[in-house]
Amino acid sequence: MDNIIFYFTGTGNSLKVAKTISKELDNAEIVSMNKLEKCNLSKQYGTIGFVYPVYYWGMPNIVRNFVEKLDLTNNRETYFYGVATFGGLAGNGISQLNDLLINRHNIKLNYGQKIKMFANYIVAYNMSGKVKEITNKSDKKIVPVINAIKNKKDKRVKSKKIFDKIYNKYIDKLKSMDKDYIVSDNCTGCKICKNICPAKNIEIINGIPHFGHNCEQCVACIQYCPQKAINYKNLTQNRTRYTNPEISCKELMERNK
Ligand SMILES: Cc1cc2nc3c(=O)[nH]c(=O)nc-3n(C[C@H](O)[C@H](O)[C@H](O)COP(=O)(O)O)c2cc1C
Ligand code: SF4
Ligand code: SF4
Repeated sequence: MDNIIFYFTGTGNSLKVAKTISKELDNAEIVSMNKLEKCNLSKQYGTIGFVYPVYYWGMPNIVRNFVEKLDLTNNRETYFYGVATFGGLAGNGISQLNDLLINRHNIKLNYGQKIKMFANYIVAYNMSGKVKEITNKSDKKIVPVINAIKNKKDKRVKSKKIFDKIYNKYIDKLKSMDKDYIVSDNCTGCKICKNICPAKNIEIINGIPHFGHNCEQCVACIQYCPQKAINYKNLTQNRTRYTNPEISCKELMERNK
Protein backbone atom coordinates (compact mmCIF):
# COMPACT_ATOMS: atom_id res chain seq x y z
CA MET A 1 0.00 0.00 0.00
CA ASP A 2 1.21 3.53 -0.72
CA ASN A 3 2.39 5.95 1.95
CA ILE A 4 2.06 9.72 2.14
CA ILE A 5 3.85 12.32 4.26
CA PHE A 6 2.53 15.83 4.68
CA TYR A 7 5.11 18.38 5.75
CA PHE A 8 5.41 22.03 6.60
CA THR A 9 8.74 23.81 6.87
CA GLY A 10 10.19 27.29 7.14
CA THR A 11 13.93 26.72 7.10
CA GLY A 12 14.13 23.11 5.91
CA ASN A 13 14.51 21.06 9.12
CA SER A 14 11.11 19.42 8.88
CA LEU A 15 11.42 18.90 5.13
CA LYS A 16 14.75 17.16 5.66
CA VAL A 17 13.09 14.81 8.20
CA ALA A 18 10.13 14.18 5.86
CA LYS A 19 12.50 13.37 2.98
CA THR A 20 14.58 11.03 5.15
CA ILE A 21 11.48 9.12 6.29
CA SER A 22 10.12 8.93 2.72
CA LYS A 23 13.32 7.31 1.44
CA GLU A 24 12.88 4.47 3.93
CA LEU A 25 9.23 3.71 3.16
CA ASP A 26 7.95 2.00 0.00
CA ASN A 27 6.05 4.14 -2.50
CA ALA A 28 6.09 7.20 -0.30
CA GLU A 29 5.27 10.65 -1.62
CA ILE A 30 5.80 13.88 0.28
CA VAL A 31 3.37 16.76 -0.07
CA SER A 32 3.59 20.29 1.32
CA MET A 33 0.81 21.32 3.67
CA ASN A 34 0.55 24.62 1.82
CA LYS A 35 -1.28 22.80 -0.98
CA LEU A 36 -4.50 21.76 0.73
CA GLU A 37 -6.48 22.34 -2.46
CA LYS A 38 -4.41 19.71 -4.29
CA CYS A 39 -4.88 17.02 -1.59
CA ASN A 40 -7.41 14.43 -2.53
CA LEU A 41 -7.10 11.31 -0.43
CA SER A 42 -9.45 9.26 -2.60
CA LYS A 43 -7.59 6.01 -1.90
CA GLN A 44 -6.52 4.33 1.30
CA TYR A 45 -2.88 4.74 2.36
CA GLY A 46 -0.83 2.35 4.50
CA THR A 47 0.59 5.20 6.55
CA ILE A 48 -0.11 8.93 6.72
CA GLY A 49 2.52 11.13 8.39
CA PHE A 50 2.61 14.79 9.41
CA VAL A 51 6.01 16.44 9.85
CA TYR A 52 6.27 20.07 10.98
CA PRO A 53 8.07 22.46 13.34
CA VAL A 54 6.90 23.33 16.86
CA TYR A 55 5.69 26.94 17.19
CA TYR A 56 5.00 28.35 20.65
CA TRP A 57 4.86 24.85 22.14
CA GLY A 58 2.23 23.74 19.65
CA MET A 59 1.39 23.41 15.95
CA PRO A 60 1.80 26.15 13.30
CA ASN A 61 -1.52 27.65 12.14
CA ILE A 62 -1.11 26.28 8.62
CA VAL A 63 -0.69 22.73 10.00
CA ARG A 64 -3.75 23.02 12.23
CA ASN A 65 -5.80 24.33 9.34
CA PHE A 66 -4.57 21.59 7.01
CA VAL A 67 -5.29 18.72 9.42
CA GLU A 68 -8.71 20.16 10.23
CA LYS A 69 -9.75 20.31 6.60
CA LEU A 70 -8.21 17.06 5.33
CA ASP A 71 -10.78 14.51 4.21
CA LEU A 72 -9.86 11.23 5.91
CA THR A 73 -13.04 9.26 5.19
CA ASN A 74 -11.16 6.71 3.06
CA ASN A 75 -8.40 6.28 5.64
CA ARG A 76 -10.11 5.15 8.81
CA GLU A 77 -7.85 2.09 9.13
CA THR A 78 -4.58 3.86 8.25
CA TYR A 79 -1.56 4.09 10.57
CA PHE A 80 -1.17 7.78 11.55
CA TYR A 81 2.03 9.31 12.87
CA GLY A 82 3.42 12.77 13.56
CA VAL A 83 6.98 14.04 13.87
CA ALA A 84 7.60 17.54 15.24
CA THR A 85 10.99 19.22 14.95
CA PHE A 86 11.83 21.70 17.67
CA GLY A 87 14.70 23.78 18.99
CA GLY A 88 14.48 23.69 22.78
CA LEU A 89 11.16 22.63 24.29
CA ALA A 90 8.48 20.87 22.24
CA GLY A 91 5.60 21.27 24.72
CA ASN A 92 2.35 20.03 23.13
CA GLY A 93 3.76 20.09 19.60
CA ILE A 94 2.75 16.46 19.05
CA SER A 95 -0.13 16.01 21.48
CA GLN A 96 -2.02 18.85 19.75
CA LEU A 97 -2.00 16.76 16.57
CA ASN A 98 -3.46 13.82 18.49
CA ASP A 99 -6.13 16.06 20.07
CA LEU A 100 -7.05 17.52 16.68
CA LEU A 101 -7.28 14.14 14.94
CA ILE A 102 -9.54 12.82 17.71
CA ASN A 103 -11.77 15.88 17.98
CA ARG A 104 -12.10 16.55 14.28
CA HIS A 105 -11.85 13.12 12.67
CA ASN A 106 -12.36 10.66 15.51
CA ILE A 107 -8.97 9.16 14.64
CA LYS A 108 -6.21 8.44 17.14
CA LEU A 109 -2.58 9.27 16.40
CA ASN A 110 -0.77 5.91 16.48
CA TYR A 111 2.70 7.31 17.00
CA GLY A 112 4.18 10.72 17.71
CA GLN A 113 7.75 11.80 18.26
CA LYS A 114 9.69 15.03 18.48
CA ILE A 115 13.19 15.58 17.14
CA LYS A 116 15.46 18.31 18.47
CA MET A 117 17.09 20.25 15.63
CA PHE A 118 18.69 23.65 15.13
CA ALA A 119 16.56 26.37 16.81
CA ASN A 120 15.69 28.76 13.97
CA TYR A 121 13.57 31.46 15.63
CA ILE A 122 15.81 34.41 14.77
CA VAL A 123 13.08 36.88 15.72
CA ALA A 124 13.19 35.77 19.35
CA TYR A 125 16.87 35.10 19.95
CA ASN A 126 20.35 35.21 18.57
CA MET A 127 20.64 31.72 17.14
CA SER A 128 23.59 29.96 18.60
CA GLY A 129 25.22 26.56 18.45
CA LYS A 130 27.28 24.72 15.90
CA VAL A 131 25.10 23.78 12.94
CA LYS A 132 27.18 20.71 12.02
CA GLU A 133 27.22 19.32 15.55
CA ILE A 134 23.49 19.83 16.11
CA THR A 135 22.66 18.42 12.66
CA ASN A 136 24.72 15.28 13.30
CA LYS A 137 22.93 14.73 16.60
CA SER A 138 19.47 15.17 15.10
CA ASP A 139 20.34 12.87 12.17
CA LYS A 140 20.92 10.08 14.68
CA LYS A 141 17.55 10.72 16.31
CA ILE A 142 15.68 10.16 13.03
CA VAL A 143 16.81 6.51 12.82
CA PRO A 144 14.70 5.07 15.70
CA VAL A 145 11.74 7.17 14.57
CA ILE A 146 11.90 5.58 11.11
CA ASN A 147 12.15 2.10 12.65
CA ALA A 148 9.12 2.78 14.81
CA ILE A 149 7.09 3.94 11.81
CA LYS A 150 8.18 0.98 9.69
CA ASN A 151 7.14 -1.40 12.48
CA LYS A 152 3.92 0.55 13.04
CA LYS A 153 4.67 0.96 16.71
CA ASP A 154 2.15 2.52 19.05
CA LYS A 155 3.11 5.40 21.32
CA ARG A 156 0.74 7.42 23.43
CA VAL A 157 1.17 11.18 23.65
CA LYS A 158 -0.10 13.32 26.49
CA SER A 159 -0.76 17.05 26.57
CA LYS A 160 -0.08 19.50 29.40
CA LYS A 161 -2.54 22.35 29.88
CA ILE A 162 0.13 24.95 30.61
CA PHE A 163 1.61 24.67 27.09
CA ASP A 164 -1.78 25.10 25.39
CA LYS A 165 -2.43 28.16 27.53
CA ILE A 166 0.68 29.92 26.25
CA TYR A 167 0.14 28.65 22.70
CA ASN A 168 -3.43 30.00 22.62
CA LYS A 169 -2.22 33.38 23.81
CA TYR A 170 0.34 33.84 21.03
CA ILE A 171 -0.39 31.70 17.98
CA ASP A 172 -2.97 33.95 16.28
CA LYS A 173 -0.78 37.00 16.81
CA LEU A 174 1.86 35.53 14.47
CA LYS A 175 -0.26 36.33 11.40
CA SER A 176 0.27 40.07 11.67
CA MET A 177 3.78 40.15 13.12
CA ASP A 178 4.96 40.84 9.56
CA LYS A 179 3.80 44.43 10.05
CA ASP A 180 7.08 44.86 11.90
CA TYR A 181 9.22 43.39 9.10
CA ILE A 182 11.58 46.01 7.74
CA VAL A 183 13.11 45.83 4.25
CA SER A 184 16.50 47.54 3.97
CA ASP A 185 18.06 49.31 1.01
CA ASN A 186 20.14 46.17 0.39
CA CYS A 187 17.08 44.58 -1.26
CA THR A 188 17.75 43.88 -4.95
CA GLY A 189 14.17 42.89 -5.79
CA CYS A 190 15.28 39.33 -6.60
CA LYS A 191 11.88 37.86 -5.50
CA ILE A 192 13.39 34.96 -3.57
CA CYS A 193 11.35 35.92 -0.49
CA LYS A 194 8.12 35.93 -2.51
CA ASN A 195 8.88 32.56 -4.08
CA ILE A 196 10.00 30.88 -0.86
CA CYS A 197 7.08 32.03 1.29
CA PRO A 198 4.89 28.95 1.99
CA ALA A 199 1.93 31.16 2.90
CA LYS A 200 2.06 33.22 -0.32
CA ASN A 201 2.14 36.25 1.94
CA ILE A 202 4.60 38.37 -0.07
CA GLU A 203 4.05 40.54 -3.14
CA ILE A 204 6.80 42.46 -4.88
CA ILE A 205 5.58 45.98 -5.64
CA ASN A 206 7.95 48.38 -7.39
CA GLY A 207 10.80 45.97 -6.69
CA ILE A 208 10.19 45.79 -2.93
CA PRO A 209 8.50 43.03 -0.89
CA HIS A 210 5.19 43.81 0.80
CA PHE A 211 3.72 41.52 3.45
CA GLY A 212 0.04 40.53 3.46
CA HIS A 213 -0.53 39.92 7.21
CA ASN A 214 -1.28 36.26 6.69
CA CYS A 215 2.15 35.31 7.95
CA GLU A 216 3.06 31.97 9.52
CA GLN A 217 6.18 33.58 11.05
CA CYS A 218 8.14 30.67 9.55
CA VAL A 219 11.10 33.04 9.10
CA ALA A 220 11.99 31.60 5.67
CA CYS A 221 12.03 35.06 4.04
CA ILE A 222 14.35 36.43 6.72
CA GLN A 223 16.67 33.42 6.66
CA TYR A 224 16.90 32.80 2.91
CA CYS A 225 17.18 36.43 1.71
CA PRO A 226 20.67 36.54 0.16
CA GLN A 227 21.08 40.21 1.15
CA LYS A 228 19.89 39.88 4.77
CA ALA A 229 17.54 42.67 3.72
CA ILE A 230 14.48 41.51 5.72
CA ASN A 231 14.59 42.12 9.45
CA TYR A 232 12.20 42.05 12.38
CA LYS A 233 12.11 45.54 13.92
CA ASN A 234 15.70 46.41 14.81
CA LEU A 235 16.35 43.05 16.41
CA THR A 236 17.76 40.77 13.73
CA GLN A 237 20.13 42.96 11.69
CA ASN A 238 23.25 41.60 13.36
CA ARG A 239 22.07 38.04 13.90
CA THR A 240 23.50 35.26 11.76
CA ARG A 241 21.17 33.39 9.41
CA TYR A 242 20.32 29.69 9.45
CA THR A 243 18.87 27.35 6.86
CA ASN A 244 19.07 23.56 6.95
CA PRO A 245 22.34 22.61 5.20
CA GLU A 246 20.60 19.91 3.12
CA ILE A 247 17.71 22.03 1.84
CA SER A 248 18.63 24.57 -0.80
CA CYS A 249 16.80 27.77 -1.52
CA LYS A 250 16.11 26.47 -5.04
CA GLU A 251 14.49 23.25 -3.78
CA LEU A 252 12.30 25.08 -1.30
CA MET A 253 11.15 27.64 -3.88
CA GLU A 254 10.27 24.81 -6.27
CA ARG A 255 8.33 22.92 -3.60
CA ASN A 256 6.47 26.00 -2.32
CA LYS A 257 5.24 27.04 -5.81
C1 LIG B 1 7.50 31.08 15.16
C2 LIG B 1 8.41 30.05 15.77
C3 LIG B 1 8.13 29.55 17.02
C4 LIG B 1 8.94 28.56 17.58
N1 LIG B 1 8.59 28.03 18.79
C5 LIG B 1 9.31 27.02 19.30
C6 LIG B 1 8.92 26.41 20.55
O1 LIG B 1 7.90 26.73 21.16
N2 LIG B 1 9.72 25.41 21.05
C7 LIG B 1 10.85 25.00 20.40
O2 LIG B 1 11.52 24.11 20.91
N3 LIG B 1 11.23 25.54 19.21
C8 LIG B 1 10.48 26.52 18.64
N4 LIG B 1 10.86 27.07 17.43
C9 LIG B 1 12.03 26.49 16.70
C10 LIG B 1 11.60 25.51 15.60
O3 LIG B 1 10.54 24.67 16.05
C11 LIG B 1 12.75 24.59 15.11
O4 LIG B 1 13.91 25.28 14.84
C12 LIG B 1 12.29 23.78 13.89
O5 LIG B 1 13.16 22.70 13.69
C13 LIG B 1 12.26 24.61 12.62
O6 LIG B 1 11.78 23.79 11.59
P1 LIG B 1 11.78 24.17 10.05
O7 LIG B 1 13.24 24.36 9.65
O8 LIG B 1 11.20 22.97 9.38
O9 LIG B 1 11.00 25.39 9.86
C14 LIG B 1 10.07 28.08 16.86
C15 LIG B 1 10.37 28.60 15.62
C16 LIG B 1 9.54 29.58 15.05
C17 LIG B 1 9.88 30.12 13.69
S1 SF4 C 1 14.89 38.03 -1.06
FE1 SF4 C 1 15.82 39.81 -0.11
S2 SF4 C 1 16.84 40.87 -1.80
FE2 SF4 C 1 15.40 39.43 -2.72
S3 SF4 C 1 13.50 40.65 -3.01
FE3 SF4 C 1 13.33 39.64 -1.03
S4 SF4 C 1 14.10 41.13 0.43
FE4 SF4 C 1 14.80 41.78 -1.57
S1 SF4 D 1 6.18 36.31 5.10
FE1 SF4 D 1 8.14 35.35 5.66
S2 SF4 D 1 7.84 34.63 7.75
FE2 SF4 D 1 5.79 35.08 6.93
S3 SF4 D 1 5.08 33.11 6.11
FE3 SF4 D 1 6.09 34.18 4.42
S4 SF4 D 1 8.20 33.46 4.42
FE4 SF4 D 1 7.28 32.91 6.40
